Amino acid sequence: MNSAKLDSRSTSGEVNYKAALLKKLRESTTGLNIEYVLASGEKRRRIYLDSTASTLQLGIVRDVMRKYMPYYSNTHTNVHFGAKLSTREFEWAHNMVLSFVNADPEIYTAFFVGSGTTGGINRIARTLREKRPDKKVVITSIMEHHSNDLPHRRNFEKVVHIPTVTSSNELGCVDIGRIEKALKEYGDSVNYVSVTGVSNVTGIINPIYDIAELAHKYGTLIVVDAAQMAAHVPIRIGGHDNPNRDLDIVALSGHKIYTPASPGVVITRKELFEGIEPVEVGGGMVDDVHTNRYLPTKNFPDREEAGTPNIAGAIALATVLCALQKIGMDFIDDEEEKLIRYAIEQIEKIDNVIIYGNTNPQEVRRTGALSFNIKEFDHSLTAAILNDYFNISVRNACFCAHPYVREMITDQLSEYSEELSNEELESLAELHRGMVRASFGLYNDEADVDALAAALREICDNREFYINNYHQVACGDFQHNSFKFDSVPIFSVQQEVDRWFIS
Ligand SMILES: Cc1ncc(COP(=O)(O)O)c(C=O)c1O
Repeated sequence: MNSAKLDSRSTSGEVNYKAALLKKLRESTTGLNIEYVLASGEKRRRIYLDSTASTLQLGIVRDVMRKYMPYYSNTHTNVHFGAKLSTREFEWAHNMVLSFVNADPEIYTAFFVGSGTTGGINRIARTLREKRPDKKVVITSIMEHHSNDLPHRRNFEKVVHIPTVTSSNELGCVDIGRIEKALKEYGDSVNYVSVTGVSNVTGIINPIYDIAELAHKYGTLIVVDAAQMAAHVPIRIGGHDNPNRDLDIVALSGHKIYTPASPGVVITRKELFEGIEPVEVGGGMVDDVHTNRYLPTKNFPDREEAGTPNIAGAIALATVLCALQKIGMDFIDDEEEKLIRYAIEQIEKIDNVIIYGNTNPQEVRRTGALSFNIKEFDHSLTAAILNDYFNISVRNACFCAHPYVREMITDQLSEYSEELSNEELESLAELHRGMVRASFGLYNDEADVDALAAALREICDNREFYINNYHQVACGDFQHNSFKFDSVPIFSVQQEVDRWFIS
């Protein structure tokens, strides 16, 4: 949602109130002011630009969990006080998730899964394979994280990878026209269409509700990987005026929504997980067990939560969702869109830095992340310098999205195809077989972007100095010739345990 829309809906008093809540949340972030000694010997505050991998913890999680933990107990019984309390809060956590994504509890259920979105998508793929065994094709896109690609490959005979739209020679969001073509081609054999809401490489936002409408028009299902969406843009799984725009299943990761140590989540229409045996079995999901048979419960979410779930992590995640909902995801989306636009503007001004994907905000919307390279500079060298000299934490390489990164790099190299020989092109491709990604959370601001832009300018202006201070090691990473980082004096669990007993 853009500012104009936001302003037309919210009074200035409301906007000020939301801005004040957001400020409080930002300022409470754990680890924002952490300092490290750098290669120059100087000590500086870290600038955390790696939120796409994992966000930092918000203070509200810390504070609420500190109050909850004295009462902690396993759920699955209502006999004692602690269990009653935990059971109530765990149920509240499920309802909070449903409310956060605008899902009607009569139609949808939310359940927590072990390992982030990856756990969720594996569960979805296995379940839908069993539920709809005649439908052996999945349509996904080239821009997916491996977690929204390999589970489909593992479980289905055919996975179709839809390319992205190209305009002004730059790659944008997934090509809806090509999705329709594939839906026509594979007809009734399509089990579901599964796309990411937001790319973890470029931050490009996909038109998921248009894709849902299309999938439903052709009688199939829509699954959305919301790993990169949930912290940044509103998710409306249900309640659209046109019900064909509703989503069938969404998966997301708590650790990407400001809650380290929290589980993944699947939100699904209940009917899709009914009528078959749950793919994970064990305690907590059965009504009765004999030595020769067992009866899985029909109740959601219990039937999908075999074993003891990560109760504390789920409650922590719901705490954050509740806080974000208080501010409003439309408001947060609007703030973050301003930041990403600012980041693109500032970085585009630097000669010799290429941002991947379409950067025209009129053509594609982005949130949360952008990836770039300094021309003729290895991505891992750029990332190492940003860390060692500027205390800017970024990530580099292919971000578990190899096909997409490869496509972007090839696309960008085609610009040079007439000027360079094949050999030169190949060596450029080798150099740029990855990218550097800067990604943002609600705690980042324009000053962080300015620091990144200034650092990139400095690297471009003093290439030789930095190159001469590094050597490449066997895994391809770059290491400083003399500066070494040792984490143990700063923090080690072993040390903390030893200290705890003597203090
Ligand atoms: C778009 C996307 N999907 C899925 C995943 C996998 O998430 P997790 O590692 O929490 O399972 C990621 C992780 O970065 C991602 O960015």
